[in-house]
Amino acid sequence: PTEIHRVRNLTRLQMGKFEVEPWYFSPYPDQFSDVDMVYIDEFCLSYFDNQRAFERHRAKCTLVHPQATKSTATKTSLSLNKLFLDHKTLYYDVDPFLFYCMCTRDETGCHLVGYFSKEKDSAEGYNLACILTLPQYQRRGFGRLLMSFSYELSKREGKLGSPEKPLSDLGLMGYRQYWRETLVELLMEPGREAMSENELAVLTSMTEKDVHETLVVFNMLRYHKGNWVIVLTDYVVGEHNKRLEKEKVKGARKVDPAALQWKPPV
Ligand code: COA
Ligand code: NA
Repeated sequence: PTEIHRVRNLTRLQMGKFEVEPWYFSPYPDQFSDVDMVYIDEFCLSYFDNQRAFERHRAKCTLVHPQATKSTATKTSLSLNKLFLDHKTLYYDVDPFLFYCMCTRDETGCHLVGYFSKEKDSAEGYNLACILTLPQYQRRGFGRLLMSFSYELSKREGKLGSPEKPLSDLGLMGYRQYWRETLVELLMEPGREAMSENELAVLTSMTEKDVHETLVVFNMLRYHKGNWVIVLTDYVVGEHNKRLEKEKVKGARKVDPAALQWKPPV
């Protein structure tokens, strides 16, 4: 772990066609603090403190997608993450982690959108350590997609999982939303009204604790004739329908479990 609450040290970043302002301190080399713009190669994640060096590099670099080599990319993406995440402990030893990167593809290559890291084997049962959607791609559903991907991995492992605590404010907001949507979607399916918390957990790979807390937070538990029952409130049904409407217009990005080629790492 390194020290974490330090002032933001970089002014601006350029990454692909985006310019981004970092939120927090990140352990880039000291000389980077003095420059107006840091150039990050969106494909190999190398970074440069001046445009000429960056362009020289781009002329030589043949990568058109982020490459997760242990030596550079993982460390750089950790640094990247530090720019937008305040409280996470930073580990330089990234060996026990794997990084799952998400990209969008166009004719110029694959552009990093976000990623999450995951311990190969988490003693605490965490299925995700750190999640990041790059600011230029936030609020477009990619966080949900990464989260749902992390739960698909848990399903493959045959485990219930939960993200590493503590969550950031944005992390908690994103997860709350994701958990509610996932549970409500299931509960809206015909014949599924009478599911227990345990059944919901097994079907979603969420922990029973996360299932329970989500139901409590959204006021979906009622005491009825001596039993606790799960209810679909007008609010959660309304939110569900709003989301379906949005997806009709914008299209829905979903993880296709059948297309997932993945085995738990050994
Ligand atoms: N304000 C309010 N609600 C927000 C929010 C914000 N700034 N950002 C996300 N949410 C909530 C919303 O309910 C949103 O749904 P909506 O856009 O339909 O209203 C929901 O979270 C999910 O949004 P989505 O677009 O799927 O997520 P994202 O791609 O923006 O990514 C994070 C979410 C958490 C990954 C992203 O905010 C991030 O990278 N934050 C910095 C790093 C971090 O804190 N990581 C978590 C701890 S490891
Ligand atoms: Na966001």
